[in-house]
Order: sequence, then structure tokens, then C-alpha cells
Amino acid sequence: MLHVTSLFFNRQNKLETSFLLPLGNVVLFPGITLPVIAEKPRSVAVVESTMKRNNKQLIIAAIRPQTRQKWAELEKSPEILNDKISESRVWQVESLEEIYPIATLAVIHQMIPLGMGSVQLIVEGLERVEIVKLVETDPVYSVKFKRLPTLAKETDESTLQALVQAIKSLWSEAAAINPGFPQELLGILLNSKEPALLAYQSSILLQQDVTTSQALLEEVNLEKLLRQILTNLQKALKIQKLRGEILGETKKELDQQQKEFFLREQLKKIQEQLGETDTEQEEIRELRSRLANLELPEAVEKQVKRELDRLERVQSASAEGGVIRTYVDWLLEMPWHQQVEDNLDLDNAKTILDEDHYGLDKVKERIIEHLATFKLKKLAQQQSLLLVDSKIPQSYTVGTVICFVGPPGVGKTSVGQSIARTLGRPFERISLGGLRDEAELRGHRRTYIGAMPGRIVQALHRAEVNNPVIMLDELDKVGMDYRGDPASVLLEILDPQQNHSFRDLYLDLDFDLSQVLFIGTANDLSRIPPPLLDRLEIIELSGYSPQEKLKIAQKYLLPRQIAKAGLPEDAVQIPESTMGLIIEYYTHEAGVRKLEQQLGTVCRKVAVHYAKGENNPQLVPPERLEEFLGVRQFLKEEIRRESKPGVATGLAWTPQGGEILFIEAVLLPQGKDLTITGQLGEVMQESAEIARSYVWS
Ligand SMILES: Nc1ncnc2c1ncn2[C@@H]1O[C@H](COP(=O)(O)OP(=O)(O)O)[C@@H](O)[C@H]1O
Ligand SMILES: [Mg+2]
Repeated sequence: MLHVTSLFFNRQNKLETSFLLPLGNVVLFPGITLPVIAEKPRSVAVVESTMKRNNKQLIIAAIRPQTRQKWAELEKSPEILNDKISESRVWQVESLEEIYPIATLAVIHQMIPLGMGSVQLIVEGLERVEIVKLVETDPVYSVKFKRLPTLAKETDESTLQALVQAIKSLWSEAAAINPGFPQELLGILLNSKEPALLAYQSSILLQQDVTTSQALLEEVNLEKLLRQILTNLQKALKIQKLRGEILGETKKELDQQQKEFFLREQLKKIQEQLGETDTEQEEIRELRSRLANLELPEAVEKQVKRELDRLERVQSASAEGGVIRTYVDWLLEMPWHQQVEDNLDLDNAKTILDEDHYGLDKVKERIIEHLATFKLKKLAQQQSLLLVDSKIPQSYTVGTVICFVGPPGVGKTSVGQSIARTLGRPFERISLGGLRDEAELRGHRRTYIGAMPGRIVQALHRAEVNNPVIMLDELDKVGMDYRGDPASVLLEILDPQQNHSFRDLYLDLDFDLSQVLFIGTANDLSRIPPPLLDRLEIIELSGYSPQEKLKIAQKYLLPRQIAKAGLPEDAVQIPESTMGLIIEYYTHEAGVRKLEQQLGTVCRKVAVHYAKGENNPQLVPPERLEEFLGVRQFLKEEIRRESKPGVATGLAWTPQGGEILFIEAVLLPQGKDLTITGQLGEVMQESAEIARSYVWS
């Protein structure tokens, strides 16, 4: 109200009081918005006091260059170095002579702390004022000032317009000869309606020194102001033509950041005038309404609000704005509360397990037992929750996590998938093979460029519920190096005492993992870190006999590959005899992965026939096998019918399955030495030594 009424009383002559912010190398003009930095203690005190005022207005005045020079000398003087003059004397304004009294009344739009006590401000110049008296210098600067009349328009409108046009065309010319000249900047200048504002904008962009800028601020006649700008612009353009630079690379008076900010602010104003919606604000509003419609834990909601406030302060198009938005998206999209209902019908579980896998009776039995315990614990938990304090972590997976161990291709991963299917939970797989960096699991702090949540949080994000089945695949392949120990993170995840408050470094908030059903897999039990092993209930899948493989291939693998190749159900017919040959001569494994691949190859070959229009089912008799799969890849050691002296039959186990070996021995003429060939392990070598000793003794 005060402001409005003062318009009616001869306001130019009335003295008012305000805080003062003296600035070293910026002259602020009315109508211009700029970021500035306050770092000296008294300046910061001024800002803080101003922020407490309702209108957030203060006076911004430029410090005379001579003053700064004097301070710089003083700073180096022996008196200062020897502590004879208080340091507070340096870089602090003590009298009105040290600054320019013609200054600008400004409003603070934003204050952003920069750390170390300094702050960045976004200020907008309002009007020209004259400081009459420096009232106070410690602990804050305050002044008496009077407002100055608007610029005199003694000139006729057409002259002014001619000058404005001349300035605009010079800027067009500058833009044309300077390929780096930002297009939006030119737009701003050409769209400028107010002659004085155009002059001030031009002055900022010309990056003139304080003395020149101050002279322009002090100019009271609009025509003279425009003429002055025109001259300066012509000069700069001439220099640019000579040296190829405008928007001075050499003059860093206005740094890059300020320039960009200036551009964006002006762009915003133009958009507002054109009635274009402010997309930034729109976006933030949308995020806020999403937040309002979601039910989030209190801590999460708080964090999102804080980040949205921050987003409002930074430039949305800036890198920082992007980082904040991604983070907010993650927080809003995480399944903090979302759950799926478990299907704990054990008969149904058995049906599904049988549907997906042949044989594996022992394994299925163990799974059913596990699910039964799981069900009982859950029921007990639900009942006890009614009676006891609900703060008890709702972990009903207490203690045990199943882990499937066995050679590749025996169905560890796919059995895990079936478990998820029986429970009706989503399935997510985290492959731990070759994982060395703890951050892979736990995420990077947001201060890192390109930081991301860890794989656990990513899996939950994909699952969209907080109780999926998560398979920790290849637990035995977890590595360890200087970037931390992923195994310790796994230990924490699997520990029911700890996993209800798992902290991902990126999310920076606790997430409750106690509802997740973790399942592990490994090839080699001896390679799982022992503390981890303690948490696991091991279920072994050892491999299949050729007969089992035959059944699996007929009932599961072949139909699946036929469907995958896009063929009708009966398109490929492989009789048992052929299948036996495939297993024996084209695969060499305990599991059925390679077998599935070979069947895939057959199906694709048939698909080619179909694609050519020969729509008749293909029978693959043994004779045609080479046509589909090429020559045999593995040769079987045939069992020798008659036993010869010096040859013994042995049995061996390898990760590829069982084997028969023939061990041949030859006695050489002299010596009791023993030569062993065949790259044998220590135990085998020892056995050979024992055999020799026995014979010689
Ligand atoms: N008993 C089985 N019945 C049906 N299909 C099986 C069986 N065992 C393995 N498979 C199939 O073999 C393929 C390889 O199994 P996978 O789960 O990837 O093995 P692992 O994880 O042990 O390396 C999968 O397509 C799987 O469905
Ligand atoms: Mg697997």
C-alpha cells in the first residue's frame, strides 16, 4: 500500500530508507533480471535482512573502480599483512564516496545458498534511485535514498523509433556475422518494445565495463541513452569485424552463467507476453499433483516435496533440473506400498511345477515343503500381528532363502520362475556374474554424474510391487575388489533383521525388502562366501540322464522351440531314435541348454521350408540329421567289449555329466619311474603313485 500511495505524493522528493548491496562489477538496470553473488559478510547480512522484509526490496549500487583498486592495494600493504589494520576494512564500503550514488532499486526473486557463507541472488531492477546518505555500514549497509523520475522523452517519437530500429538492425548484423550468436537472443532484442529496456539489454550484452554501464544508468535523457548505445554498438561491431569477436571473449565482465540466465529470463518474459504457457511451471505442477494422488511413506513424501521446491529454484532445462526430475520420478514410481496377493494353494503349486518341468521330483518336493513353511509362517505372522506390536518387521521368510545349485542348463533359473508363477508374484532376475562393484547393487550417490539406483531397486521398480520373487543368479560368481564387497550387501539383503530398511545410495531413503522372496542360484557351492552360505537352504539339481533328457526334449523343449520359430504345432516331428542321436552326438552337458539350442536350429531350418510355401510337416529321421545339424560334434568312447591287459575302465564325473574313461598302462624296459599323461588333478596323480607303489611292492 505504501508503495502505491507514494505514487501520488511527490515521491521523488521523499526520502526513503533501504538496505544497500554494493556490487563490484555489475551495474543493474531497471527491467533487467540477473543473478549476482554476495559473499562478504556484510553483504550477506544485507541479503538476509532484506529477505525478512515483505517486499524483499533493496538498493543495488556499483562500487567505483577506484575504490576496488584502493582495496586491492590495501590488501597487499604491510599493515594488513601484519594485522595492523583490521581485515574488515578491506573490501567493505565505509563511505558514500566509495560507491556510485545513482543506483537501482531492486527486488530479490530468489536466494540460493552457495556454501561457505556466500549466496547467489536472482535480482530484478525496478527503478533508478539516488542514494543521498549512507546511514549505516555495520553490521549491515543501509541508506537514505530518493526515487528518480523516469527518463525524459524530450524527443519526438519518430526520432526515437529511428534510433530503436538502428540499434535492432545493428544487432541483426552482429548476429549475421557471428555464427555463434544465439538465435533466441536476437529474438529478444528484436521483440523489445520499450526503448529504454532495449538500451539496457544492449548494454548488458555488450558486456561493458562498470564505468561505461554506470554512465548509461545515469543518463536521464532517452534519446541520449539510445544514441550512446548506438555508438557503443557500432564501435563493438567495428572491432568485431576487425577481430572477429563480439560479446567479448576478452571482456569477462559478465560471465557465461549470467549471460545464459539473462537470455532465459528475457525468453520467459516474451513467452508470457505471447501467452505461451510456461512449460516448466506446468511440469512442476503436474509432478505435485502426482504426488498428491499417491500414498507414499511420510519420509518419501517429504523428500519429494523438498526436491520439487529445489526444482522450482533451478532452471528446469539445466543439467541440475534434469537430475532432480529423474530422481523425483524414481521416488514417485517405486512400489513403496504396492503388493500382490500370494496364492498359497499347495495343490495348485504342485500342478504348476509339474506343468513347467519334467521330473525333478526331489526338487519339487523340497519346494512344496518350503512353500508350506512359508504359508504357515505367514499365517502365524498375520495372527501375531493382531496381538503384538505392529512394529515387528513383517518378515515371514525368516532365516532361509532357497538356493538352487547345479551345472548349467539343469533348470535352476526356470524353476525359480515357476515358483514365482505358483505364488502369482512377478519374477525379476539379477545376474551377479562378474559383479565387483558394491555400487552396482546399492547404487551411486546422487552427487555422481549419471548416478543410478542399484540393481535391487531397479528390479523392484520393474516389478512394480514390493513383494516380487527376485532371483540372485550365480551367487558364486560375485567378485570383490577395492570398490567394496558386494557379498556384504547381499548378506544385508538376505538378513531379515536388516532388510526391512535397505538403503540404496541413490534413493537415499530406506526401502523395505522384507516382503521380497529371494531365491539364489549357483554352479559351485564351494565358491559361495561362507557367511552367505549360512543363510541359504541348498537344493541341488545334479543333471539329467539321457532318458530324462529325451522326455524333457519331447515334452517341453521341442514344443517350445516350434512355437518360437512361429511354426504350427506338428510342423517338426523328431522320433525318439533321432532325439537319442542328437543328445549323444550333438550335445555334451549335464543340463539341456545345448539340446534346446540344437532343437531350435532344427526348427529354424524347417521354418525356412514353410516360409517358401512348402507347408508340410517335416519328419526328421536319423538319416536326415546331418542335413539339419551338420556333422556330429562329439564322439562317444565306445565301451570296449573285451578287456585287454593294461587297460582298465574308469568312471568320472565332470560338470558336463558322467563319463567312462579307459586307463591304459604300459611297462617300459628300465627304471621304476612313472610317467603320467592326461593333465590329471592332484588326487588322480596320487592315486597313480599308490598304484605304482603297490605293483612294485
Ligand atoms: N526338468 C525340466 N523340464 C523342462 N524343461 C527344463 C527342465 N530342466 C531344464 N529345462 C529347460 O532348459 C532350459 C535351461 O534351463 P535354465 O533354467 O536356464 O538352466 P540353469 O539356470 O540351471 O542354467 C530352460 O529352457 C528350461 O526351461
Ligand atoms: Mg540360469
